[in-house]
Amino acid sequence: MPSRDGSRVVRVVRVVEYVQEQHRLAAARVQFDPVFTADYRYEHTLRVAHYGRLIADEEGLDRELCVAACLLHDVAYFACGDREGWWDDHGRMGAEISRSVLLGAGFSTEETNAMCHAIAVHVDGKADDGLPDGPVDNVVSDADNVDRFSALRIVLWCMTEREDLEKMAGMLRERLARLYKYRDTSPRKTKAGQRLFAERVALQIPFFEALVRDADITQPPIRGN
Ligand SMILES: [Fe+2]
Ligand SMILES: [Fe+2]
Repeated sequence: MPSRDGSRVVRVVRVVEYVQEQHRLAAARVQFDPVFTADYRYEHTLRVAHYGRLIADEEGLDRELCVAACLLHDVAYFACGDREGWWDDHGRMGAEISRSVLLGAGFSTEETNAMCHAIAVHVDGKADDGLPDGPVDNVVSDADNVDRFSALRIVLWCMTEREDLEKMAGMLRERLARLYKYRDTSPRKTKAGQRLFAERVALQIPFFEALVRDADITQPPIRGN
């Protein structure tokens, strides 16, 4: 990571090492979805950190804080992904896990608060820390959503219903309704995040429309037509 301040780089490296270790442990222990595996979650984390850096730079925000928060935003998947009902709480759980990691990596209490709050609110906008919302929240949320609409995600998403074309088409019709809504509004919170998100929505719409058409024509020819 380019920086003139070596100590800042070291803090992020410590966070990267922590996430890598959690991924390694989880891959061996936690029962993940057959498509959205522990490897997928780790790789998603790396891409979210990449987008977080781009957005932070464009928004003039602290790159290191944004990248570290992005790296930890889904860490609860690794620690709690086998617990019932964990998903709704994975932001707040992740913040709790991340606090000691970030303080241990050398971040100040104030910096840690900003990052943990961003991690806590990234799922449903709610935290239980009593802290005010801040700009890092928007970066983590936008970076996460940019990757959730990636080209790779199209492939993986379709794989979840690969054995039932009709089911896949139904799922894609529902998905398209959401995508049209996203295309016609600007749901992301930062300018850079919105631009990156809009590019991905524009990629998904024609591809999903084509897949639905493929499903529609997958039927025997009717006699006389
Ligand atoms: Fe998440
Ligand atoms: Fe995520």
